[in-house]
Amino acid sequence: MSVPPGGPNAGTNAAAPNAAATQTVAARAEQLTKVYGSGDTIVEALRHVDVAFAAGEFTAIMGPSGSGKSTLMHCLAGLDASTSGRVTIGDTDLSVLNDKQTTLLRRDRIGFVFQAFNLVPTLTAKENITLPLDIAGRKPDSAWFDTVIDRLGLRDRLGHRPSELSGGQQQRVACARALVGRPDIIFGDEPTGNLDSRSSGEVMSILRAAVDEFRQTVIIVTHDPRAASYADRVVFLADGRIVNELRNPSADDVFEYMKHLDDPAQRRGATPAQQQNAPVAGAAPAPLAPPNPPQLNQSPRPADPIPPAQSSWQPLAADSDGPDGRSGRHSRG
Ligand SMILES: Nc1ncnc2c1ncn2[C@@H]1O[C@H](COP(=O)(O)OP(=O)(O)OP(=O)(O)O)[C@@H](O)[C@H]1O
Ligand SMILES: [Mg+2]
Repeated sequence: MSVPPGGPNAGTNAAAPNAAATQTVAARAEQLTKVYGSGDTIVEALRHVDVAFAAGEFTAIMGPSGSGKSTLMHCLAGLDASTSGRVTIGDTDLSVLNDKQTTLLRRDRIGFVFQAFNLVPTLTAKENITLPLDIAGRKPDSAWFDTVIDRLGLRDRLGHRPSELSGGQQQRVACARALVGRPDIIFGDEPTGNLDSRSSGEVMSILRAAVDEFRQTVIIVTHDPRAASYADRVVFLADGRIVNELRNPSADDVFEYMKHLDDPAQRRGATPAQQQNAPVAGAAPAPLAPPNPPQLNQSPRPADPIPPAQSSWQPLAADSDGPDGRSGRHSRG
């Protein structure tokens, strides 16, 4: 499946140029809405979201609390049904699948890392990691299993149950579980939300490697600009709408934009031109420019893919903003 010239958002969302324009699309939402409740308690969690995620790309979704990030991710991953609109995974329209077909699609093509780990307490780390494959009757590729386990530093923890593991180790087990089956798409809802910066760096590095070395597609929700700086593209949600995106941003770029997005006073203080661009209920989404827009980085990716050796990892030091100091920019393959 390819995206028409002009990008999936052409005509409806004038956000930054979309790399999906010429690439295969791994997942797409079209005019997606999600409404919770009714009457006085109605919540429009998603308001006509149009977005496409290119295959083999790493996207981070960011936005203030309650902006609809988890809702969007759950609808994309077939974990929740939308109120209207359409989700496609590759060429498959999720709305035409019955429950069993949706379960099979999730099992065979999607990996998911939740903030709350969701490990089975009675199983060992190894059994948790291979559980989706066991259910599918598939054998893990042993070389890939070893790569994932060693990169995530889980070798000596495989026989432990979740209660015998630290939070960071449990999250790494959850990541390994999502990675071992080599699904087309890995979704993560705040996969580093409970981790210290070193463990975050390890998790983000292996997600980066899944994209660079194995051409998987990774889509995560995060509140952490440093985590987002591992992504090729950062998509910003506010009030159920996509309001902007940045390509290959540094942690500083993301931080600056999030400050703007998080601060209602700043948003109210936007210039008239920006106010004109601000989303209006029921209208097509428009980009919301920050007061000092970070430089959109359109440069081609650096040609230094993350080599597979463990020694090449660049987990973030606990006391630094990133491997290159303040800017926190990460090499992309
Ligand atoms: N099951 C539900 N019933 C009613 N409202 C809900 C439900 N789930 C989410 N919402 C509401 O939908 C909106 C979007 O929620 P969502 O969980 O997608 O936000 P989020 O961007 O992931 O926020 P956070 O960063 O805090 O996780 C919020 O206003 C939330 O209160
Ligand atoms: Mg959430």
